[in-house]
Amino acid sequence: LTDTYTLSNGVKIPVVGFGTWQTPDGDVAYQSTIDALAAGYRHIDTAAAYGNEESIGRALKDSGIAREEIFVTSKLWNDMHGYESAKQALDDTLKRLDLDYLDLYLIHWPNPKANRDNWAEANAETWRAMEEAYEAGKVRAIGISNFQVHHFEELLKTAKVTPMVNQLFVNPSDMEDEIVAFNNEHNVLTEAYSPLGTGKMLTVAAIQEIADKYNKSVAQIALRWSLQHGFLPLPKSTHKERIIENGQLFDFELTADDMAALDKLEGVAGSHNDADKTNF
Ligand code: A2P
Repeated sequence: LTDTYTLSNGVKIPVVGFGTWQTPDGDVAYQSTIDALAAGYRHIDTAAAYGNEESIGRALKDSGIAREEIFVTSKLWNDMHGYESAKQALDDTLKRLDLDYLDLYLIHWPNPKANRDNWAEANAETWRAMEEAYEAGKVRAIGISNFQVHHFEELLKTAKVTPMVNQLFVNPSDMEDEIVAFNNEHNVLTEAYSPLGTGKMLTVAAIQEIADKYNKSVAQIALRWSLQHGFLPLPKSTHKERIIENGQLFDFELTADDMAALDKLEGVAGSHNDADKTNF
């Protein structure tokens, strides 16, 4: 869990992050973050929209682990697009987390309903504020999330800083080949949220068969697949034993044949909320 990828600006990022989407605020977010840090995770992924930044911030403090040893990501929500709003959103997030800086700040969605008519301009303005925050040292890296190729190409027309990360819904059932290839061409790290397909991967028989061979869990196989593709998986769990299990990925390697078998599972869990891709 201390292995790192290096972002395009040289910042090191732990190769597995603790996902907190759908983790309820309060005791659950607090305790699961404490458990993740105790299990050795040094990378926590949250967002303004998850509503759990304050609890996570408290857990970060109470863990007693030095700030610089933990990589913290948050995201700008859909109602805060635009130059002034984005500056405000970052300040609000820092306040809720009770931190002086973030390691990574992302635009959560490229095309929110509120900006449907001018999403390209809204992203450009949001990005300008994020570039300034980056230059000012309030964030060590900046990136995007849920951007498809056309969103990303549009942003690159005005961006001075190329995003270091694009966080996407990626798992064996949702490979997102086109945007992943685009990320790779631009030296942008693909982070995989819901690397277990929000849990849907766990009941896929073909993965269970592979898991049995390695004496690993289905979750561990899906996460290892993500790592071997060079993605950065962000598994979410609120159960201590699962949090620990999801971090135990470094004592085995999937063969090329098994990777290929997993790659063939595209669509197996049904299509991920396509609505999101068009609605946002
Ligand atoms: P829970 O939080 O109750 O442990 P994803 O990261 O793809 O969004 O998947 C998260 C879902 O998968 C949650 O429902 C989570 O449940 C469940 N989950 C996470 N890790 C494991 C695991 N190792 N074994 C079984 N279920 C898991």
